[in-house]
Amino acid sequence: MKVTVFGIGYVGLVQAAVLAEVGHEVMCIDVDAKKVENLKNGVIPIFEPGLTPLVKKNYEEGRLLFSTDAEMGVHHGEMQFIAVGTPPDEDGSADLKYVTAVARTIAQHMNSHKVVLDKSTVPVGTADKVRSVMAQTLKERGVEIPFDVVSNPEFLKEGAAVSDCMRPERIVIGTDNEDVVDLLRELYEPFNRNHDRMILMDIRSAELTKYAANCMLATKISFMNEISNLAELLGADVEKVRQGIGSDPRIGYHFIYPGCGYGGSCFPKDVQALIRTAEQIGYQPRLLQAVEQVNHAQKLKLPEFIQRHFGEDLKGKTFALWGLSFKPNTDDMREASSRVLMEALWERGAQVQAFDPEAMDETQRIYGHRTDLKLMGTKEAALQGADALVICTEWQSFRVPDFDVIKKSLKQPVIFDGRNLYDPERLSKRGFVYYAIGRGASINIA
Ligand code: UDX
Repeated sequence: MKVTVFGIGYVGLVQAAVLAEVGHEVMCIDVDAKKVENLKNGVIPIFEPGLTPLVKKNYEEGRLLFSTDAEMGVHHGEMQFIAVGTPPDEDGSADLKYVTAVARTIAQHMNSHKVVLDKSTVPVGTADKVRSVMAQTLKERGVEIPFDVVSNPEFLKEGAAVSDCMRPERIVIGTDNEDVVDLLRELYEPFNRNHDRMILMDIRSAELTKYAANCMLATKISFMNEISNLAELLGADVEKVRQGIGSDPRIGYHFIYPGCGYGGSCFPKDVQALIRTAEQIGYQPRLLQAVEQVNHAQKLKLPEFIQRHFGEDLKGKTFALWGLSFKPNTDDMREASSRVLMEALWERGAQVQAFDPEAMDETQRIYGHRTDLKLMGTKEAALQGADALVICTEWQSFRVPDFDVIKKSLKQPVIFDGRNLYDPERLSKRGFVYYAIGRGASINIA
């Protein structure tokens, strides 16, 4: 099938590459000429395991095309994906200007039937908006061409995006026209082989499904972080509690890891956007507001521990920081806890020596101007001469470090661990002061 994808961001690029890999002819359109040129030369704008070879192979074999020519893109595919960004407005609502701009572009240039699929995470009611923008544009052109608008939200996780897309748990399709279902079955046939993963519903339910999924996951994390705060105060160990509750299959082990807060391009933005949607229709979403508040407070947890240990004034202190990305296996630093931490440290006069396996360029891009930040080439180099070690991301390479090296390199054997990577008792025996999340009993041991 011929497919066009508007927006070569995370969602658009991964979806396009995967659709090309299974044999569709995919044309990606983006307004960013540099990005398009880079992609043609095999330069991928994001770090995502498995994506670079997939893009290169499909580009070389001619199934994956990149262009800035929107008109050509509209003519190319009967299926037109909208996968552009929906950044938060000043009040946290999703800004739909890029989505509606693509809708207008499609209607301006189309001269045959198109199925427009919303892949971007968009508020309930967006498909209606896309439809009316397109209808209006066609009317202005004085033509009548049939089209369908479908909600087809994406559920991929950064760091596992290619495999999530290749083997989706579900393909949610929101449509009010049974006739397009056959076309969508043909499009998704290669992903649907062993059992039917397509879940058909009306458009508004599909739009809400995406927000409900992300908000549910964010709720699990904030719930666990709240329990971790209680555990700390009560002298209990949240890691034991996590195992205890996770063993109940109704709760499950997934997504109940306490930590220094969730980040990324989805949870913070989507929780906020659903809060705004609710408020706009006169409903007060108390639970979602609490999820957001708990997360905000949780990102301040490590700075609080540091203050507890070193006092308010951190002038003359240097902190080694391991982990800058919002989670492992990505270079994405959007809403990362490391940023809240670094900014709190700088505000109190401290210096930071940071290392991340993938996010060094991104950190340089965001904070390159800062004289109180040094980017170090290895995790060991980051430790040299620092007063303490702080961990914000659970990269695999941080899980079994050489504690003797850490001890020798730091001025004091103190670790602030936002991801509960180590055994508190063992660290205590080795002479470390170990601050972790919700491990009240263990901290007392230290
Ligand atoms: C998320 C959803 O998982 C995905 O389905 C959706 O399509 C997009 O948003 P992503 O943002 O890539 O994906 O990351 P995810 O792995 O879900 O992690 C989000 C944040 O939650 C990270 O900061 C992570 O550290 C944190 N987290 C996750 C926890 O603090 N505890 C957990 O138990 C799980």
